[in-house]
Amino acid sequence: MRQFDVLIIGSGLAGLSLALRTATNKKICLISKRRINDSASNWAQGGIAAVLNDDDSIDAHIQDTLVAGAGLCDGAVTRKVVEHGKETIDWLIEQGVGFTREQDDSGYHLTREGGHSHRRVIHSADATGHAVQTTLAEKVRQHPNITLLENHIAVDLITTKKVKDYDVELFNSNTCLGAYVLDNTTGKVITIGAQHTVLATGGAGKVYLYTTNPDISTGDGIAMAWRAGCRVANMEFIQFHPTCLFHPHAKTFLISEIVRGEGGLLKLPDGTRFMPDHDPREELSPRDVVARAIDFEIKKRGIDCVYLDISHKPLEFIQGHFPNIYRRCLQLGIDISKEQIPVVPAAHYTCGGVMTDESGHTDINNLYAIGETACTGLHGANRLASNSLLECLVFGQAAAKDILAQPDRPTPKLPDWDESRVTDADEEVLIAHTWDELRRFMWNYVGIVRTDKRLSRALHRIHMLRDEVHEFYSNFKVSNDLIELRNLLQVAELIVKSAMARKESRGLHYSKDHPHTETEAVPTVLEPSNYYSLLDSEHGHPTPTKQG
Ligand code: FAD
Ligand code: SIN
Repeated sequence: MRQFDVLIIGSGLAGLSLALRTATNKKICLISKRRINDSASNWAQGGIAAVLNDDDSIDAHIQDTLVAGAGLCDGAVTRKVVEHGKETIDWLIEQGVGFTREQDDSGYHLTREGGHSHRRVIHSADATGHAVQTTLAEKVRQHPNITLLENHIAVDLITTKKVKDYDVELFNSNTCLGAYVLDNTTGKVITIGAQHTVLATGGAGKVYLYTTNPDISTGDGIAMAWRAGCRVANMEFIQFHPTCLFHPHAKTFLISEIVRGEGGLLKLPDGTRFMPDHDPREELSPRDVVARAIDFEIKKRGIDCVYLDISHKPLEFIQGHFPNIYRRCLQLGIDISKEQIPVVPAAHYTCGGVMTDESGHTDINNLYAIGETACTGLHGANRLASNSLLECLVFGQAAAKDILAQPDRPTPKLPDWDESRVTDADEEVLIAHTWDELRRFMWNYVGIVRTDKRLSRALHRIHMLRDEVHEFYSNFKVSNDLIELRNLLQVAELIVKSAMARKESRGLHYSKDHPHTETEAVPTVLEPSNYYSLLDSEHGHPTPTKQG
């Protein structure tokens, strides 16, 4: 067993910023299931929303966030996040992140995205996430108090409830003591004990066939927290980004909203614009509106994609503002300074997640959730563009403050992972097939437009796959892919159950059977005790037993 003050699961912006903010006083273990820079944070393009100049105001940023969130944002949390914007951007600049400056060097260049009433998105050209991620990752690597374990995937949390016979007298209520972690380089599951455990595991876009997310986005933190007994909220609100590149050779590539922010126009194959027919805010409407408009046009006309056109801007402008997008499209044979870009919507952001308070606490003692895996109340029914990186930073700071304020206390000795009743897997192909099937029907039945019938069909299939995976998990040694598939099935179930519970249309959840919006906005909160979940580890892989 390895022991630390703080175990952080995930090396995106949420995990990295928390690690750097706590490492001065605490011994940190930061685990990442692939390499440190394999994260959605590294792929972020547009930038970080914050009130940074005098033309803008805190109230305007709050108002824009609340409007996008369609009545479901928590007002106090929204204010807190927006008010901490400048401070957290200043912290990033101190860490060495190079943001794009105005041409005359009079200050930082601020760009614009859908739903924002002002230019307030600070950025590093069109690869903001990469600049932030790599700068912080380098600092983490060099920090003497941070032990970085790459290629280590958390399997499940260890809680007092789970290891009942172990020193429970130390704790009054269910408390997190660390996690079981599979070392992908050796195939062994190790035990990591910690006074504080933080889920910073990102979103769950890989539950859908088409997504802008990297392969790591499999909802592990949400599934682990749910299995451990945390409430999960607002999972029906999956944000579909309107403009993912549509190209047979691009596995997934986002065309940032800043392209529309800087004048890009959405067009049909014949070159006519369609956004003015859908919303007076046209191309800069919030994402849910633009994604639904594109979905509508594609289905109505039987076309494969629509087009985003920025070719009316000079080449130097395009190369200056979108160097990364320009280069990637050119590699695929599309010169965006001369041609329109074929685009389709794709799953982009998980607005719901593990319920937390303003310091990132979950329902379990000493367990925090920050970043995309959390549901803090900021995003409501639809996230405002570029508010996610901001949330990672503000909650990284808040959780760090809370952790640093707490007294040290010993972690009890924890039982080892028990593999005595499982064998090596005989048919790995089942995992790939099941994953593929899940992603396809989630796309078809639980996508941008939903119906009661499609949701019931999806749930029925999830239950069938769940039983198969449950059996597999019970009998065979865990592997990276099996852990991810098990988590994706759990998250899919949470998405569908949340969508079925919402009998209205609001923000990102649109149901043909319930197109109206209720006057009162109520979050969807799922309680683990109210739901039977076969994927619960108590029923799945053998629960660790006490060893000498
Ligand atoms: P991530 O950055 O996804 O990091 C999650 C980490 O957890 C990874 O290191 C992963 O390996 C690790 N992990 C996951 N499960 C486990 C496990 N079981 N064990 C160990 N490690 C695990 N937002 C904005 O605000 N502005 C933007 O411009 C923007 N652009 C975007 C562009 C793209 C293409 C995408 C996909 C998203 C974009 N977003 C943007 C959203 C934003 O990038 C993410 O919401 C944010 O980066 C999430 O950060 P995070 O730290 O919570 O998670
Ligand atoms: C983008 O650059 O379009 C993504 C911004 C975001 O997801 O906030």
